[in-house]
Amino acid sequence: MKSFCNKKPYDYYEELEKLEIDIYNQLYFDSSSINSVEKINYNTLKEKTINVFEDYDYNQPQNIFIIKNFEGKIIVGRKIRSVLRIENKINAINCSMITAPMILGVLVKRAKTNRKIRIEYYPFSDSEKKYVFDKIKNDRTFDIYYPYKYRDFYTEKEENSPETGWSFNPDKKEYLGYGEVHLRNFTTTYFKNKSLDNKIVYDPACSTGEFLNEFKSYHKNCYTIGHDLSKEMIDYAKDYVDEALCCNAIDSPLKDNSVDIMFLRFLNSEVVTTRLAYRIMKKLLSKMKKGSLIVCFGHTPVLITKEWFEKNGLKSIICNGYDEERNAIFQYYVFEVQ
Ligand SMILES: C[S@@+](CC[C@H](N)C(=O)[O-])C[C@H]1O[C@@H](n2cnc3c(N)ncnc32)[C@H](O)[C@@H]1O
Repeated sequence: MKSFCNKKPYDYYEELEKLEIDIYNQLYFDSSSINSVEKINYNTLKEKTINVFEDYDYNQPQNIFIIKNFEGKIIVGRKIRSVLRIENKINAINCSMITAPMILGVLVKRAKTNRKIRIEYYPFSDSEKKYVFDKIKNDRTFDIYYPYKYRDFYTEKEENSPETGWSFNPDKKEYLGYGEVHLRNFTTTYFKNKSLDNKIVYDPACSTGEFLNEFKSYHKNCYTIGHDLSKEMIDYAKDYVDEALCCNAIDSPLKDNSVDIMFLRFLNSEVVTTRLAYRIMKKLLSKMKKGSLIVCFGHTPVLITKEWFEKNGLKSIICNGYDEERNAIFQYYVFEVQ
């Protein structure tokens, strides 16, 4: 697989996407047209030449993912160009969906030195990638971890939302939802048989409010609360949620132990920084009732680790979701507050 060796930042569409298209053409295969192996012979795999992929944290480090404890091995993968981008539904090159061609192999070593990321792995054949993917798609407990964050070439800082939140363009609101269709469908399926009458359902960064509105269309007697940093978003969202307020999630005015379900779709790469994500999460935890659920996912990688949630008194219920139409898996954490 082609590596990145640019010492200067690439233009996102003119240069980066061109290289991502090459990588896509190298890795893509139609999973439905090949057979999976019966099982993986890891001894034979270790006789293969170790593959190396290199990138810099100012390109697309957030595409590299790790899946631990797969048949006792650590699997490494990398997201390739999203089908949603190919369908011209999103502006970003990638989305949250992982498909079989994105599974690379068994991790040998990974390291980040200064701004350079290097991963070494024993490469899977396409049939072995399908085998691994099919196993994971049938097991909601596999944790998909994204170890590397994008940092601006010049400032070396992670991206964060503007102080006044995201601006809102009514003509472009569909675009905000396209990257989430599979996430919303999985949410609908996951909560289908749960009775949520009089339950408080909270989204501290609800943007247009359409996610909560769609959720309420399946659970008419729940009570939805949507907050957002952006006044523009809240001015729109207030017609789609039961209660709306423009505020920073870190200063959420909700009473402690008052929320039954909290949806987190903003503690994600390129929406807030990792440091801010943990600071906000520490504040929001106190809003949750005992036995309540925290649901964490997003268009870009979730910044808070499963281990941190578990260390802070949350029980992991599931870690990933699956979309049959796209034959894709994605981060989708559900935790129960103990
Ligand atoms: C929910 S996220 C991501 C939405 C969608 N999934 C996406 O990725 O296109 C975006 C929203 O988070 C809001 N936001 C960012 N930081 C926030 C903060 N600290 N407190 C509350 N809202 C915040 C932004 O204003 C924006 O409306």
